Amino acid sequence: MPKPKVFATHPLFEEAREILDSNCDIQYWTDADRPPRPELLRRVKDREGLICLLTEKINDELLRAAPKLRIVSNVAVGFDNIELDACTKRGVVATNTPGVLDETTADFAWTLLLAVARRLGEGEGLARSGNWKGWNLDQLCGADVWGKTLGIVGFGRIGRAVARRASGFQMKVIYTDAVRASEETEKSVNAEFRDMNTLLAESDFISLHVPLLAETRALFDAPKFFRMKPTAFLINTSRGPVVDEAALVAALENKKIAGAALDVYENEPFIHPGLKRPNVVLAPHLASASLETRSKMATMAANNVVALFKGQRPPNMLNPDIFKKR
Ligand code: GLV
Repeated sequence: MPKPKVFATHPLFEEAREILDSNCDIQYWTDADRPPRPELLRRVKDREGLICLLTEKINDELLRAAPKLRIVSNVAVGFDNIELDACTKRGVVATNTPGVLDETTADFAWTLLLAVARRLGEGEGLARSGNWKGWNLDQLCGADVWGKTLGIVGFGRIGRAVARRASGFQMKVIYTDAVRASEETEKSVNAEFRDMNTLLAESDFISLHVPLLAETRALFDAPKFFRMKPTAFLINTSRGPVVDEAALVAALENKKIAGAALDVYENEPFIHPGLKRPNVVLAPHLASASLETRSKMATMAANNVVALFKGQRPPNMLNPDIFKKR
């Protein structure tokens, strides 16, 4: 039996490569830069499997260029880069990598929260600048984190992992979500449900953990910022377009909120120049970027591909309807 032809748009990590090398006729994109679109379309021409990153748009154009494609395996939990309906229509399975990055992403949401509250970006800049004149009583005083109220928007696995970490800071945790969690779940992470407007009014820190969907696009817009406390901070490790960036810049300029810490942006890698201000901490989409976790994500993506070609159901299917039809 010839091995299935697979293209990976990244060299991945060792464990994933071992799985793919022994089970597939695999080609890897090894340049440091992401593959240019025409090159990607050329490389998928004869491929039955594609392992891609969230920077690759998987749409009709790509699917047309890859007539033999049977699976698109995204090395990410978010899959807004994949047009699922287009995949399903053509019988192409799409998969993602849920679960393995929850704790690492929650760690990073906290990294950002602490950094913006305690003005770490500004402090680091001063320490490196050579201009630090020494300790002073009112130097770079930020906001306390401990004892404050943390508002979580989107109470899935990552939102709950963020909530769990708050107990060490003696924080009150409130959350909002389209679906209220069970009492048992709420108790286990010590979080209380609020409707969105109440959460906006009560929170000192708001951390976003919703997927990017039609309903969550620009979820945080001017009226939401207007309802937040002027002393509150916004943390976003979900997806950039969940926040209306122009409205966020206006809210910061008009002191409607105290600051923001962002890992994701509306049009990555472009960052709105209005966000480059001292009370905004900026990271380049790093939330899941620990070596352990990124390697696990790559392995999971490899296993999804191999399962399909072994005639099994890939464990992390996003469009299981494909199998129902068969
Ligand atoms: C990262 O942003 C992911 O969706 O895994």
